[in-house]
Amino acid sequence: MKIIITDTYEEMSRAAADVIAECVAEKPDCVLGLATGSTPIGLYACLVEDNAAGKISFKDVQTFNLDEYRGLDPKHHQSYRYFMQDNLFDHVDIAPENTHVPNGFNPDAEAACGEYEAAIEASGGLDLQLLGLGHNGHIGFNEPADHFPVTTNCVQLTESTINANSRLFDSVDEVPREAYTMGIGTIMKAKKILVVANGEGKAEIVKKAFFGLVVPQVPASVLQLHPDVTVIVDAAAGALL
Ligand code: GLP
Repeated sequence: MKIIITDTYEEMSRAAADVIAECVAEKPDCVLGLATGSTPIGLYACLVEDNAAGKISFKDVQTFNLDEYRGLDPKHHQSYRYFMQDNLFDHVDIAPENTHVPNGFNPDAEAACGEYEAAIEASGGLDLQLLGLGHNGHIGFNEPADHFPVTTNCVQLTESTINANSRLFDSVDEVPREAYTMGIGTIMKAKKILVVANGEGKAEIVKKAFFGLVVPQVPASVLQLHPDVTVIVDAAAGALL
C-alpha cells in the first residue's frame, strides 16, 4: 500500500487525477470504477481541465460507478447519476453509453444488482477503482457488517450514513434508506485501487482503516489485503498517521 499525504485538498485532487490520467494514458480503453461524495469533486475538476487541454481523452474509456440510491430518479439532483453527469460526464469526451451507474430506479434489487455485476464482468473488469471513505469506514455503500459482501447488492443504509448524507437533501426524511452498491468482492477484483480522503473528520477512520485490524466492521480495512492500493489524503485526514 502506498500512502501519499499532501498539504492541501487541491494537491490531493491533482495527485489523484494524475493516477487516473496515467491509467488512461497506458490503456486508452480502460475500465474505470468511479465514486461520488464531496471528496472526489476536486479531482473530477482536474480531469475536466486535462480533457479540455487535450492531455487526456475518455473517448474509449468505460466507467462503472460504485453505487446508487435505490428508488431515486436518475434525474433527481441527489442521484449519483446526476452527480456524475454534473461533475464529469457532461464536460468530457466520454460516450454516454460507456458510462454505467447502478439502476436505482429498478425496484427489482436482485435483477438490478445481478445485471450490474454481469456488465462489469463483461467489460473485462475494472482496471482502476476510485474510492472515498465513509466516516464509519464504508466503501461504496458497504456499511459495517459482520461479513464482507461479495457482489453488487442492495444495502440498508445506517443511521450515521443517512445523517451524514442528509446535508445534501432538503430534509433527513428525503434520504433514501436503501442503495445498490458494488460488493467488497467487486471492488477487490479491480486491478488497482485509489483511495482519497480529506479533512480532519476523516483522520480517525483513515488510521483505523489502513493501520487497524482487517474486519468487516471497518469495510475499508479489507483494502490492506489488495496488492495495488494508493491512498492519497490531505494533511488533515493524514494527521494521525
Ligand atoms: C457516500 C458514498 C461513498 C462516499 C462517502 C463519503 O456515502 N456512497 O462512496 O465515499 O459517501 O462521502 P464524502 O466524500 O462526501 O465524505
